[in-house]
Amino acid sequence: KIASWHKEIAMKKVTIQVPATSANCGPGFDTLGLACTLYNEVTYEITEAKGFKLQVTGEGAEYLKPYGRNLAFASFLRVWNKVKNNERIGLSVTMKNRIPMSRGLGSSSSAIVAGLYAANCLCDNYYTKEELLDIATEIEGHPDNVAPALLGGFTISYMEEGKAHSLRLLPVKPLKFIAVVPDSKLPTFLARQAIPESVPHKDAVYNTSRASLLVGALLSGHYEYLESALEDKLHQPYRAHLIPGLQEVFNAAKEHGAYNAIISGAGSTIMAYADPAADCEGIAQAMVKAFAAQGEHCCYHILDLDSDGVKAI
Ligand code: HSE
Repeated sequence: KIASWHKEIAMKKVTIQVPATSANCGPGFDTLGLACTLYNEVTYEITEAKGFKLQVTGEGAEYLKPYGRNLAFASFLRVWNKVKNNERIGLSVTMKNRIPMSRGLGSSSSAIVAGLYAANCLCDNYYTKEELLDIATEIEGHPDNVAPALLGGFTISYMEEGKAHSLRLLPVKPLKFIAVVPDSKLPTFLARQAIPESVPHKDAVYNTSRASLLVGALLSGHYEYLESALEDKLHQPYRAHLIPGLQEVFNAAKEHGAYNAIISGAGSTIMAYADPAADCEGIAQAMVKAFAAQGEHCCYHILDLDSDGVKAI
């Protein structure tokens, strides 16, 4: 009896941990991504009372609302309605948010992935992770954040005949990721508008070589190539005007011992990649100072790779 009572509870309530992600990783626009050790925790509970309830602490607490179009609800219902034939339910969601919003650390992907994964847990794992990746990509529009949020590690994502696929890899040696997060938000749609329809062929070649080198460096442990491998010509130069002081922040990171630094996702966060033995505090503070010289206040996180992706805790 106790076992069935536990099952009953377990089927109605689940808490999900989902990692922040950093897409593009420099040269891999809309393709490469990684998950890192900054997490949101989201509890979903099916309630007797119909309607949506939302309680948020941390990031976004002041403006996230319990609407059906809020990604946390919409993504949950996407799976629930399909599996349970639109069975009407009440849903109470409690979020402990640590991933800043509209800063290029995958907060919208984390909400999509948490919702899909929670509903899937409460529906006896109806979908595989591969299928969830495809649904998440359809909601997000591109796979490079949702893939590492789901799978963890470093991901290479691609689309084939309209379906998203991703290869997950783990670098052979640890790396530190120093995420410097400006107070100023940068909505992804604005940052995407800055990118031209076409680019010179030589810039495409430049990025193909850098993205290939990045994967090779991570898999071989030849991190001395990371300085070159993290360079990009497909999106960062076009977005530079949206992040005042970008080059100075990149320079500060390198001068203080980082391999290199990139725009995380669509920005505004700048992420430096460093050896674990580097002075990561010193790198972070130098980057914060370079932003401060432009009048931009920042906080920072010194992070590791998350290798698991989303999970129920
Ligand atoms: N690849 C995307 C971009 C990530 O850079 O626009 C942001 O969602």
